[in-house]
Amino acid sequence: ELGSYSHFMEKEIFEQPNSLMNGMRGRFSDDGSTAVFGGLNLTPQELRQIDRILFLACGTAWHSCLVAEYLIERFARIPVEVEYASEFRYRNSPLDKNTLVIAISQSGETIDTLGALREAKRKGYRTLAINNSVGSTIARESDGGIYQHAGPEIGVASTKAFTSQIMICAMLALYLGRLRDLSYGDGVDIVKALKQVPEQVHAILKQNEKIEAIAKKYARYEDCLFLGRQLMFPIALEGALKLKEISYIHAEGYPAAEMKHGPIALICEECPSVFLATSGEIFQKSLANVQEVKARKGKVICIATAGCDLPEGLVDDIVIVPECHEIVQPILMSIPIQLFSYHVALARGCDVDKPRNLAKSVTVE
Ligand code: F6R
Repeated sequence: ELGSYSHFMEKEIFEQPNSLMNGMRGRFSDDGSTAVFGGLNLTPQELRQIDRILFLACGTAWHSCLVAEYLIERFARIPVEVEYASEFRYRNSPLDKNTLVIAISQSGETIDTLGALREAKRKGYRTLAINNSVGSTIARESDGGIYQHAGPEIGVASTKAFTSQIMICAMLALYLGRLRDLSYGDGVDIVKALKQVPEQVHAILKQNEKIEAIAKKYARYEDCLFLGRQLMFPIALEGALKLKEISYIHAEGYPAAEMKHGPIALICEECPSVFLATSGEIFQKSLANVQEVKARKGKVICIATAGCDLPEGLVDDIVIVPECHEIVQPILMSIPIQLFSYHVALARGCDVDKPRNLAKSVTVE
């Protein structure tokens, strides 16, 4: 089943142009301005009544929810909240009656996500699931949903399921936006941007050897920070989770500007940082955060979109991803962090497909 690949994680990283394509297939309107979904079981009228969305998930899927929060608030202007399923199910939080609850789960069997979904249903909320396993318990028990169609994910560390979840959330933001204030032209731009993603991911994957060389340089460190602002904050969290779960390096993700409120104390020659920088309004602010780290002798690996104007020699290592629409930045920026973690773990001799203490699907509390 592995074909020419050494590990499922590697195979699944390289499958992403396809898995992303499969998630989009047949899901755009004929006029190319919005997404269409077959299984929401909610009419456009009902969806226009929704005045809040609550996302529930665990782990990597929870990071997808955080990306969804930024995207849906920005493009559909609906207030979004994100909760760990394990916290929500026992918290008894008051929710507005027009809240839509969306659970995200690759396996569709995660016990906390299922428990949270059941709790939301018990209280009478409409529920949807974004899920990668057709016929899973979470898919069956929710009122409607969207299948990811990313194909089976075997590697314990989620890769293609994560980018596929973000893709679905971007399409959902587009769809909900077009039911509200997002214009035809803005919708067309987003559809075009989404359709370009598989090819752009393919181009990033071609940098595998370069990223491997960078990973080997940093594999000996025992700590690592991942920093990013706005849409890059959840990707920083995901980068840290990927690295810690397969390489056992202690890693943390932070919004870059939070550095000075504590984590900057960790910065020294022995604690490198991975910076996620995207061009756009926030770039100059991210640059200032990179400079703060460099001033404290911290090594910096920068993953940046092509339009970022980084001063020559500022960072120690750099990976460039293609310039793209904001809505697809989280997908493209995820690819280098997956490859980086994979190669760091291999360099440390770790079993990337079966990391210690972890199970693919967490069906016990
Ligand atoms: C990390 C990882 C886990 C899962 C989490 C939820 O790489 O795979 O954090 O994301 O256990 O699993 P699902 O999405 O199956 O509910």
